[in-house]
Amino acid sequence: MDLKLEKRTILVTAASRGLGLGVAISLVNEGARAIICGRNEASLKSAVELLGENAEYLVADVSKPEDVSMLLEHVKSKYETLDGLFVNAGGPPPGTFDTVSEEDWESSFQLTLMSAVRLTKEALPLLKKSDSPSILYSTSISVKQPIGNLLLSNSMRPAVIGMMRTLAEEIGPHGIRVNAVCPGYINTERVKELMDASGDAKAAINRITTSVPLGRMGEPAEFGAVCTFLLSPVSSYVHGALLLVDGGMYKGMM
Ligand SMILES: NC(=O)c1ccc[n+]([C@@H]2O[C@H](COP(=O)([O-])OP(=O)(O)OC[C@H]3O[C@@H](n4cnc5c(N)ncnc54)[C@H](OP(=O)(O)O)[C@@H]3O)[C@@H](O)[C@H]2O)c1
Repeated sequence: MDLKLEKRTILVTAASRGLGLGVAISLVNEGARAIICGRNEASLKSAVELLGENAEYLVADVSKPEDVSMLLEHVKSKYETLDGLFVNAGGPPPGTFDTVSEEDWESSFQLTLMSAVRLTKEALPLLKKSDSPSILYSTSISVKQPIGNLLLSNSMRPAVIGMMRTLAEEIGPHGIRVNAVCPGYINTERVKELMDASGDAKAAINRITTSVPLGRMGEPAEFGAVCTFLLSPVSSYVHGALLLVDGGMYKGMM
């Protein structure tokens, strides 16, 4: 299938590794131009070397309003238009209601919700100039069922879904599509770190894989392929949707 992404410009945030990089790789493989960001320049340089000439990077922390403005200013001055926005950020810190501090709540609000709000707000004027614009929010299976010891993710990510579903009503009439993807366990550095931090990585991996009907974690390339489809003009009638990419891990009916 031709995803019609040739020469389309897509901003992929938090993409020097992990899920974001998986999405950027898949997009450039389909002929799109990927603009990626992250906080560490060395990691971004390596990512762009891997991605090739259709990719460029900007050092930006999406939890900071000035960095988000700088990112979109760059897109505006270089490309004038934007065809897709993949909204991603680092994960909020783990913890329970007893252990997370007020500061953790505040920084997670900036990192998870306000980054999505500001990226959307600043990108909308450029997206409106595209003939098939698409916004895709990367969230987590935690929007469907809470994950233990991840209070902040369980609390902040559903707000992103609330915004996405509201935007579907508000900006759908302007031809701008919005959707969300909800990864279960995808094999990235963050997940490897979480497994190592558990004290017994083998047992932790085993616990996860036995709860996934497909019997394994996903790979960033598998996640990237789904997101690429949703960012492409080929998914032109998918709007306001939440798509789990979890190997069947979520057990609810809806
Ligand atoms: N992997 C999974 O199975 C899974 C499942 C559900 C949800 N998630 C969520 O998906 C997101 C990505 O996860 P991942 O597994 O890909 O993590 P990862 O392997 O640690 O990669 C995170 C990426 O985000 C960048 N980043 C982190 N904070 C940033 C910020 N404030 N501004 C800009 N870039 C930032 C990192 O680069 P720098 O550190 O250089 O900034 C890196 O490129 C996280 O929010 C995670 O909680 C992951």
